[in-house]
Amino acid sequence: MMVSLPSTIRVASRLAAPRSMAAAFSTSAVSAMATPAHERPPKMKTFKIYRWDPENPSVKPHMQSYEIDLNKTGPMVLDALLKIKNEFDSTLAFRRSCREGICGSCAMNIDGVNTLACLCRIDRDSSNSKIYPLPHMHIVKDLIPDLTLFYKQYRSIEPYLKPAGPPPGGREYLQSPEERRHLDGLYECILCACCSTSCPSYWWNQDAYLGPAVLMQAYRWMADSRDAHGDERRAKLENTFSLYRCHTIFNCTRTCPKGLNPARAIAQIKRDMAFGAPKSAASRPLQTP
Ligand code: SF4
Ligand code: SF4
Ligand code: FES
Repeated sequence: MMVSLPSTIRVASRLAAPRSMAAAFSTSAVSAMATPAHERPPKMKTFKIYRWDPENPSVKPHMQSYEIDLNKTGPMVLDALLKIKNEFDSTLAFRRSCREGICGSCAMNIDGVNTLACLCRIDRDSSNSKIYPLPHMHIVKDLIPDLTLFYKQYRSIEPYLKPAGPPPGGREYLQSPEERRHLDGLYECILCACCSTSCPSYWWNQDAYLGPAVLMQAYRWMADSRDAHGDERRAKLENTFSLYRCHTIFNCTRTCPKGLNPARAIAQIKRDMAFGAPKSAASRPLQTP
């Protein structure tokens, strides 16, 4: 049961907060921050990492443990992986590029959640972490999933502008700021595949169901005021599997490391297919609040 405090005490405690924070910062926290990393006592953590090497097929997939000092590595899980690879085991394989949450290549399953290793802070309070590749995918090596089918599905939705004809005036396809706002919440997708590989429908029907990432990209072009092939794009999804295997479970939205909402985009496609697409882009619901 939650016990509520009298309002005066709540106010008093709110007013008191800066002082108590100052007190905390004036003692151990400040001295810990002021201590150079190499002088702090070791804070060891074990990373248990999925390993499988196609060149050693007789060795079954297994978990390998690496213990590292968190005071000698960066704050993110990708920092820990790079430290392991650079200093302990160069055979460990994983993808990464930007280390800024932009390229989408470091997607993996960290402590049960599909996310980007470069955006995932190391949990300093637990003594170990388990890291697997994205689930239900064929594995190329260690933490590297085979994304061939994922990209083939992406290609199938024709992810590019298909206008009605040459641009008016022969130069550009113009769009008003209001029309452009309808792409917010869609264009930011980095195709990391965290959402698709968290979707039970995609796990069981990967060969036929397009999955949340690809469907959200399909909707991105349907929602673009400059694109003239929305009906054709929707007609391609009119079958039992491509779209309608989504059962609105919302795993995809819960896991997206960019805070996007693929389930909402899928619901919008279904609505347009059931009731007809809005006549103008402005009458379309926005993807962002
Ligand atoms: S919607 Fe989110 S989780 Fe899915 S591919 Fe795009 S960025 Fe990744
Ligand atoms: S909402 Fe649809 S796409 Fe998202 S996880 Fe559920 S079934 Fe998959
Ligand atoms: S390294 Fe690019 S998103 Fe993580």
